[in-house]
Amino acid sequence: MSDKKANLILPNGEPSIDFPIHSGTIGPDAVDIRALLGKTGKVTYDPGFLSTASCRSAITYIDGDEGVLLYRGYPIEQLAKHCDFLEVCHLLMNGELPNSAEKSDFDLRVMRHTMVHDQINNFFRGFRRDAHPMAILVGTVGALSAFYHDSLDLNDPSHREISAFRLIAKIPTLAAMAYKYSIGQPFVYPDNELGYSANFMRMLFSVPAEEYKVNPTLARALDRIFILHADHEQNASTSTVRLAGSSGANPFACVAAGIACLWGPAHGGANEACLDMLEEIGDVSRVNEYIKKAKDKNSGFRLMGFGHRVYKNYDPRAKLMRETCHEVLNELGLENDRLFKLAMELERIALEDDYFVEKKLYPNVDFYSGIVQRAMGIPTNMFTCIFALARTVGWIAQWNEMISDSEQKIGRPRQLYVGEAIRDVKQIDHR
Ligand code: CMC
Repeated sequence: MSDKKANLILPNGEPSIDFPIHSGTIGPDAVDIRALLGKTGKVTYDPGFLSTASCRSAITYIDGDEGVLLYRGYPIEQLAKHCDFLEVCHLLMNGELPNSAEKSDFDLRVMRHTMVHDQINNFFRGFRRDAHPMAILVGTVGALSAFYHDSLDLNDPSHREISAFRLIAKIPTLAAMAYKYSIGQPFVYPDNELGYSANFMRMLFSVPAEEYKVNPTLARALDRIFILHADHEQNASTSTVRLAGSSGANPFACVAAGIACLWGPAHGGANEACLDMLEEIGDVSRVNEYIKKAKDKNSGFRLMGFGHRVYKNYDPRAKLMRETCHEVLNELGLENDRLFKLAMELERIALEDDYFVEKKLYPNVDFYSGIVQRAMGIPTNMFTCIFALARTVGWIAQWNEMISDSEQKIGRPRQLYVGEAIRDVKQIDHR
């Protein structure tokens, strides 16, 4: 705690009040206004949390102006180059990268939990075949809480840990099952000898009638997608997980809430929406028309995959994803992919256009991740499931941090009430 203070001057001669200012390791200081209501009877007004820090966190840091993203202090570029996804999971959950022995142990602990209870299959049978996989994922992840009564004591760190392993291990199985169900193919059991991403690809693409060999370049690309989406500070879905968890709800239910929030097109649904948009534009010759539409407030159209609440510079994840996009398209001989060319042209024009430059609207991670996934054969409606799969470790690390925080309280925002003042109910014949 520092002795820096912010002084609030109130109207009508009321005495001014000091509030402590806290400094983090890096990033903006935070004025601690927790005592504001008690001392002044006033609340702050900040819809969308534009200027509000909802917690202390030591997991992820973003400098949106500089385009920096750190997991536990490590730049995302270095993690994407030198680590695999499970090393990043270890880092997010435990604060440090694993050494070789710790990595073997961690990988084994995750991979041992990849199977789901056989009863879970019955949940799938209840969904329509054409249900969106995110709808299935919300339901089945929430349903996991009905299976693990042995580990739902939130105050026991070993229960929290086993739940974390179960969630990280089972979500690829559930996501792959959601896909297989939608196309009428049999579920594929996990193969724990394969790595995390290779196993997911096998569960997604293999059929019992044929041998399936995982392409290592594609598995590595998928692993990178997972790394880039693993955590992102107090975004909407993470805040949802924290808010749900603040009431003491179990982690499976909280992660299901996070998945529901992620589904929206302004958040995790943007990669699906971005690919739909590229398909709609269809040809490089129509890029200018859509740029014009995006600038017209009355059109209700936005360039999907552009802009970010925090990044007011090129999203560092988008740079890495662009690189991966080249690698995957080269590997598959799709260098001249129509949508990729269209995306690059859209990016080029938007980065030069005054509207986008002035508003600091740069491509975000979703701009290229959809093209990579499509090239790999992943259907568009699975993109957000893959985001959810990757973000599960971030949600669970943030949830765990919240539960362990002695300052944690149930999340309960105030409001500025603008409805009717008190009034009397009239008899029905006088209304
Ligand atoms: N296309 C056109 N105009 C835009 C766009 C866009 N993609 N994004 C923002 N603007 C304009 C917006 O109209 C507003 O203009 P003005 O100031 O004249 O009213 C200004 O830029 C600021 O926008 P905002 O909506 O106030 O900004 P925000 O921080 O609330 O929203 C956002 C951030 C990501 C929701 C928004 O940029 C957006 O809708 N982008 C498209 C969806 C998208 O790609 N989402 C993925 C986000 S990255 C993945 C993730 O972390 O989930």
